[in-house]
Amino acid sequence: SVINGKGLTLMPSFIDLHVHLRDPGYLYKEDLYTGQRAALKGGFTHICAMANTNPVCDNKKTMEYILNKHKKNNHCNLTQISSITKGLQGKELIDLEEMLKYTKLFSDDGVNVDNEELFEEVLKLSKEMYFTILTHCEPEAEVIKRDLELLENTEGNLHICHISLKKSLNLIKKYKDKGINFTCEVTPHHLFHWNDKYRVNPSFGKKEDVNAMIKGIKEGYIDIIATDHAPHSEEDKLKGSPGISGIEVAFSKVYTVFKENNISLNKLSEMMSYNPSRILELEEALVEEGKRADLVLVDLNQSYSVDSSTFISKGKNTPFNGRRVWGKVMMTIRDGEIVYKD
Ligand code: DOR
Ligand code: ZN
Ligand code: ZN
Repeated sequence: SVINGKGLTLMPSFIDLHVHLRDPGYLYKEDLYTGQRAALKGGFTHICAMANTNPVCDNKKTMEYILNKHKKNNHCNLTQISSITKGLQGKELIDLEEMLKYTKLFSDDGVNVDNEELFEEVLKLSKEMYFTILTHCEPEAEVIKRDLELLENTEGNLHICHISLKKSLNLIKKYKDKGINFTCEVTPHHLFHWNDKYRVNPSFGKKEDVNAMIKGIKEGYIDIIATDHAPHSEEDKLKGSPGISGIEVAFSKVYTVFKENNISLNKLSEMMSYNPSRILELEEALVEEGKRADLVLVDLNQSYSVDSSTFISKGKNTPFNGRRVWGKVMMTIRDGEIVYKD
């Protein structure tokens, strides 16, 4: 069949290295099914789910529960991330050999914050056993400094999640300029200046922090955009749970900021598709001959107001309601098939 894409822009679909799907344990916030459908609506065909489920994804049984459930409603490609310490406690290492059969992404869950020795060991192991540690360092930029010092000595594989502060970026610049290899991400929401006290981790930055993130993107110091899609119920939000549900409007938020700051669509594609594919080591598969395409068709000339009541995600939690954004996902194609249509 023929798709009429007149006036629209065709791009590789997006890959999200950082989402929370809440399955198992918090199905009232999100589940594998709704999370994947929301991702497709956002133009993503591959998502990586964080390990802070209940039980925590730190063992074979939980991992297999997730992967088997995913197989049944296989809408979107999924990489399940494992916790690196038991129960996200930052104390005892999990059975790495076992979990490496399923994933090469491990979330450090703050082990770096309280347990320097263990974090150094984890960095060494990441090099020896070949996996990538996703670290959540902020709000303490000092922790990034120590992590990068340890990285310089160990040469492990490190990805720094959701940076938001100018001082973090300055440290990242310093170490990248020295030739130390690692990657980092910024979320769509941390590209916006927000006076609001809306709870999210890390918190919204000050104007100078946001400007630093945009400059960091322009200068090529920030590798990827990842949503940190964090769905919560209204009740949990009222009780103070941090996070924003945002995968469905991620592209529009990013495109709006890029458009306002004269950053190219190629750069957006690099940060939302190509660079994440490299971290997942999928870039070869992307150009494999005979492989059917993963694509997204977007309308760059459309603007709309964010309205979370229209979200597929169970999480309607966002401070962006009413915010006008540019660029709309019109269609998502996965493995040659239309999986979402506006
Ligand atoms: O705001 C956040 N919420 N940041 C995180 O890193 C975790 C997430 C969550 O799980 O709700
Ligand atoms: Zn985090
Ligand atoms: Zn997160």
